[in-house]
Amino acid sequence: MTLTGVTAAQSGTFRIGGDLEVNRLGFGAMRVTGEGVWGDPADRGTALATLRRVPELGVNFIDTADSYGPAVSEELLREALHPYDAVVIATKAGFLRTGPNVWVPMGRPEYLKQQAELSRRRLGVERIDLWQLHRIDPKVPRDEQFGAIKELMDAGIVRHAGLSEVSVEEIEAARAVFPVATVQNLYNLVNRKSEDVVDYCDREGIGFIPWYPLAAGSLARDGSVLADVAARLGASPSQVALAWVLRRSPVMLPIPGTGKVKHLEENVAAAGLQLSDEDFRALDEVGRQEWAAQNAER
Ligand SMILES: NC(=O)c1ccc[n+]([C@@H]2O[C@H](COP(=O)([O-])OP(=O)(O)OC[C@H]3O[C@@H](n4cnc5c(N)ncnc54)[C@H](OP(=O)(O)O)[C@@H]3O)[C@@H](O)[C@H]2O)c1
Repeated sequence: MTLTGVTAAQSGTFRIGGDLEVNRLGFGAMRVTGEGVWGDPADRGTALATLRRVPELGVNFIDTADSYGPAVSEELLREALHPYDAVVIATKAGFLRTGPNVWVPMGRPEYLKQQAELSRRRLGVERIDLWQLHRIDPKVPRDEQFGAIKELMDAGIVRHAGLSEVSVEEIEAARAVFPVATVQNLYNLVNRKSEDVVDYCDREGIGFIPWYPLAAGSLARDGSVLADVAARLGASPSQVALAWVLRRSPVMLPIPGTGKVKHLEENVAAAGLQLSDEDFRALDEVGRQEWAAQNAER
C-alpha cells in the first residue's frame, strides 16, 4: 500500500469546544527545541523547515507549551508560521524549567495568568485558541488553578481551555469551574493507563490529545510490536501506531512530535491508512498484553 499524496484531512475532523474545527491528526512542537527540551535546536534551519512543512501537509492543529525551550518552541512557531492562517495553535503552562529535562509544577494563579499573557505575546495572537494547564500543581488548591483558567477565558485571553495528565475525577472537578474542551494525557498502543479517561472523553465529546503516541519513537522502530501488521499493510510501524489511535475514538487528536521533515511526512501519511476491524482488534490485544507485561515487571 502506498501512502503518497495523503494529507491530514484524511484523518477526519473534530470541533474543539464544539466550534473550532481541526483535522484530527495534529503535530507536537516539543521536538524542535534542544536536547532535554532545553534551548535552541541543534539545527535551526531544519526545525523551521519542519514547522513550515506542517500546514502544507494539511495539519492545522499544533501543540506547544511555554516550557518547551522554554519559549523556544513558541518563538519558532511564530517565525515559521505567523499569522497562522487556519492553523490552531494550542499551548500550555504550569511548569517551571530549571534545566534540561527538569520540569517543576507551578500552578499559582498569578503565574498561570502571567504565562498565558507571555504565550500570547510570543505567539503574536490576540487570543489563544486552546490553552492547557500542563499539570495540576499539588502544592496549590486545584480550584485556584481552575479559577485562573476561568478568568483567562472571561478576559478573552483564552478561547478554549484544557487539562493535561488528569483523572476522570479531576476533569469533573474542573468542569464545575470552566468548560473543559480537551484533555492531553500520555496514551499509545502499549500505554493504556488512561483508558478510562479516553472512554470518558469519548462519551462527553471532549477532545483527547494522546501525547507520546509513538512512545518517543520506540513504536516507530522496525522490531516493534507493530512490525508484522505494518509489513503486511506496506506501511511503517509509526503509521500503524497513529492509525490505531485515530481509530480508537473519534475524539482522538494525536500530536506526534518530530524535528525532521521526513518523519513528519511519514507520520501525516498515516491519515490515509485504514485498519480493518480485525487488524484494529489484533493490535489492541497485542498492545494490552504489552502494557500488562510492563506493569508485571514493575
Ligand atoms: N502534556 C504533556 O505532559 C506532554 C508531554 C510530552 C509531550 N507532549 C506533547 O506531545 C507531543 C508528542 O510527544 P513526544 O514528542 O514526546 O513523543 P512521540 O510523538 O511519541 O515521539 C516523538 C519521538 O519519536 C521520533 N519519531 C517521530 N516520528 C518518527 C518516525 N516516523 N520514525 C521514527 N521516529 C520518529 C522523534 O524523533 P525525530 O525528531 O528524530 O523524528 C521523537 O524522538 C510533543 O511534541 C508535545 O507537543 C505533551
